[in-house]
Amino acid sequence: MNNFPKTPKDLLRLVFSKKMLLKYNMVVLFGAVVYTILSFRIYTFKFLIDPLADKDVNGFYFGLGFLIFVVGFGYFLEFLERRIRVKLSVEFASIMRKFNFKHIIRYPYDFFASNLSGKIISDMRNLDYLEMWYKRVNSQKIVILELLIILGITFYTNAYVGLSFIVFSFLLYFLFKNQTSKIKHLSVINNTTGSTFKGRMFDYLGNISLVRLFNIYKEEDRNLEKYHETYKKASISLYIQKHKFNLYGSFLLLFLELLVTFYMIHLIKLNLVTIGDFSVIVMYMNMFNSRFLRFVRYEAEVRDLQGGIESALSRLFVELHNYDPAFSEGVPLNSNIRVENLCLTLSNKPIFNNLNLVIKEGEKVGLVGLSGAGKTTLVETLMRLHSIDSGMVFVGEKDITKIKLAELLDTFGIVDQNTLLYNDSIEYNLTLGRKFTDKQINNALKKSYLLDFVKDQPKGLKTIVGERGVRLSGGQKQRLGIARAILFDAPILILDEATASLDSKSEEVIQSSIENLIKNKTVIAIAHRLSTLDIMDRILVMKNGEIVEDGSQKELLNKKGAYYELYTNQNDKFY
Ligand SMILES: Nc1ncnc2c1ncn2[C@@H]1O[C@H](COP(=O)(O)OP(=O)(O)OP(=O)(O)O)[C@@H](O)[C@H]1O
Ligand SMILES: [Mg+2]
Repeated sequence: MNNFPKTPKDLLRLVFSKKMLLKYNMVVLFGAVVYTILSFRIYTFKFLIDPLADKDVNGFYFGLGFLIFVVGFGYFLEFLERRIRVKLSVEFASIMRKFNFKHIIRYPYDFFASNLSGKIISDMRNLDYLEMWYKRVNSQKIVILELLIILGITFYTNAYVGLSFIVFSFLLYFLFKNQTSKIKHLSVINNTTGSTFKGRMFDYLGNISLVRLFNIYKEEDRNLEKYHETYKKASISLYIQKHKFNLYGSFLLLFLELLVTFYMIHLIKLNLVTIGDFSVIVMYMNMFNSRFLRFVRYEAEVRDLQGGIESALSRLFVELHNYDPAFSEGVPLNSNIRVENLCLTLSNKPIFNNLNLVIKEGEKVGLVGLSGAGKTTLVETLMRLHSIDSGMVFVGEKDITKIKLAELLDTFGIVDQNTLLYNDSIEYNLTLGRKFTDKQINNALKKSYLLDFVKDQPKGLKTIVGERGVRLSGGQKQRLGIARAILFDAPILILDEATASLDSKSEEVIQSSIENLIKNKTVIAIAHRLSTLDIMDRILVMKNGEIVEDGSQKELLNKKGAYYELYTNQNDKFY
């Protein structure tokens, strides 16, 4: 795919409908009309000052009326325009944020596995600045329009002064061009280092328990400080460059002011311009200067925002595999699993080479093998967490690459050693926000032997479990995971080391709750503890990414092969 958005403009086209952009541009156009009217307000002073110099009272009152009308009408329109624009800006920003969430959160798993989440958040935040960028770009257009009008009026009033303004504008433009690209360059560096620093900081926070347990605050501080130092340096360079840019602008404009004032005084002496012309030109020069400085400031901001957005885009929109197909071939029809000639390489390391496997609906299969044999990776591949090199994987008769991930994952329920928990109530962690009846929840709690525990809690189901469930014991966490799986009732269950690291009493309770869970389900149970495999119909033994044995526990024990070896070794170790 080569059509990744690379610039803020590309992103604009990707995120916003044509209609929305048209609406935005209409408002900008309206703004242009308003500011054109307002630009003329200074010229109307001429109708006030010249009659005054001629002592023409009627002319003066006419001029005053005209001035009040232009200014009043102009400001009323400006008020209206601001109101519409602010409302539209908020709508615009909200569409961008929603896009961020809906689009990036649904990226394939690989992306999140290989990026620090803090970095992703920081980059997403940079994309939020698209609205600001667009606003500034459009404000710049209006400022340019105002500058053109000022040049026109000045030219009309006095051709020489107008000409000097024009020459000056070109000169300034070329002087600034080089400076603005420097700003953009420094902004890219600032954003890249900032995003890395923020990523590290989130990682630090996410692992705060680890930091506390091993008392590695100092080490972490030092680590973070290093990233912070680079970020700080980049920020300072950017700040200095922007400051230099603004300073240049002010200095050059001051020069223009002096030049024009002296020239005008000279012209007045020669009686070539009226006092009204003089006042108008001086006022327009002021306006020209303020607009030019505004343009310069906006230019610096636009370049800065552009750099930030482009650097975030380069990290957020990258070639990824494993996307959902555009059209789904429907949901899995049953829970049959079929793997044909599966080849998978991860980080250049071959994991599976021509792996074949069939698991029938309702079968309960134990998956065993030494650490690193590929058990977890196999299960992850069934759930399309990895993009395979070749071969086919079917779940419920559907090629898993031809259906949407959400449909595929609804077929799977998982209970693993490490129940993932939100820092929220027991209830929320059970239902994860999906709707279930009280009866369903009670049933799940009963089958996982958690009912008494929940009743003993001061706030029952509403009790907060703490960060990653710190207020629960290991066994309780695991049973909560089991209760959740019972509630979600997916037809295929994956149990990854569900009974590891528990005392025998707890293990018994967990074992019973698992038995409740797996009734009428297709099950793949990964286990090191072979005693938990008694209830499985079939056992697969994996070795270096291959299935080396496949049969019932009894058959495999009689065979005295790889499984027998694991079993006897383990009995020595554990019992
Ligand atoms: N993302 C990855 N990139 C590179 N190699 C990987 C990746 N994920 C897993 N592996 C490698 O694949 C092999 C199989 O890992 P896997 O986690 O499937 O083993 P396992 O059988 O589940 O082991 P354990 O019993 O310890 O959980 C290992 O050698 C591992 O280093
Ligand atoms: Mg594993």
